[in-house]
Amino acid sequence: MKDVFILAVESSCDETAAAVVKNGREVLSNIISSQIALHTLYGGVVPELASRKHIEKINQVIQSALDTAGMTLDEITAIGVTYGPGLVGALLVGVAEAKAIAYAAKKPLVGVHHIEGHVSANFIEHKELEPPFVCLIVSGGHTHLVVVRDYGEFEIIGRTMDDAAGEAFDKVARAVGLGYPGGPKIDVAAREGNPHAVEFPRARVGGSMYDFSFSGMKSAVLNYINQANMRGEPICVPDLAASFQNAVVEVLVSRTVAAAREYGYNRVAMAGGVASNTALRAGMKNACEKAGLTLYYPSPILCTDNAAMIGAAAYFEYRKGVRAGWDLNAVPGLKLGER
Ligand code: KG4
Ligand code: ZN
Repeated sequence: MKDVFILAVESSCDETAAAVVKNGREVLSNIISSQIALHTLYGGVVPELASRKHIEKINQVIQSALDTAGMTLDEITAIGVTYGPGLVGALLVGVAEAKAIAYAAKKPLVGVHHIEGHVSANFIEHKELEPPFVCLIVSGGHTHLVVVRDYGEFEIIGRTMDDAAGEAFDKVARAVGLGYPGGPKIDVAAREGNPHAVEFPRARVGGSMYDFSFSGMKSAVLNYINQANMRGEPICVPDLAASFQNAVVEVLVSRTVAAAREYGYNRVAMAGGVASNTALRAGMKNACEKAGLTLYYPSPILCTDNAAMIGAAAYFEYRKGVRAGWDLNAVPGLKLGER
């Protein structure tokens, strides 16, 4: 079969990214222009500033992706772009850009679901990994436990009833004064702390035994801080970070391993920004080894938002014959498994 080269564009949140991916699994370039410095001033992502930064950077980022891959637009097979879910203004920049390039260069266009992108990051470094497998998706906006039945085909077996895991990390980080982006800061602070210093509740929720709830855990941390403040007691941030992180990791790991067992899969993958968390990676590895499961996760740079993962997902969609029309639009609330 002829090689397929995807030029992929990602702009759903606070990273302007472009990549060239060969046959879905080989990254020829992966350029990320991060907006962290900009949003840090405000303690979180400011949607309108994100859109403006995307439009300022996107052409250079795409050119740089082509240059680094040593390719011209002529040699590209198709354009892949994230069209949802995400911030509408941010998504629109990438979608409009990808449509313009595809139209002008007469290339097919493939719209990619951002979360399918996160899952597909696993195919890049694990050439042997093929569906079906169980995947824990943990990002800033999503927490899903799924069976990846086939490329781009998901059976959702669990989801968060309230906050996403990354959102809980970000809120707790803000409450203890670690600032934005919260997840990585908690990860670092927790390395110096005692994960058993404070026992936070591991909330069980109604519904499926694979559903998650993080708002109770987050509130318990906030209560703990308020009570310490009222008593005039100092807070040990590393202990608090480590204890909160430990509670989140325990819940994520136990449900994922239980799901793999019950559904009868011996391969487990992780995806999304929180999958780069050191304690989660270590905890999941340990539990999977004990349970006789093979664990896959992407390198940290492929866990957080990037365009290489979008190129990987676009390839598998392209191979199935999926093409977007010239009416492709941003869909900020796009659900997993929806087109
Ligand atoms: O997947 P992602 O880059 O963007 C979304 O699609 O949401 O995920 C971002 C989320 C943020 O909430 C961030 O705090 C969290 O992932 N995150 C982490 C770590 N790195 C990023 N959470 C915990 N530990 C980390 N090392
Ligand atoms: Zn993401």
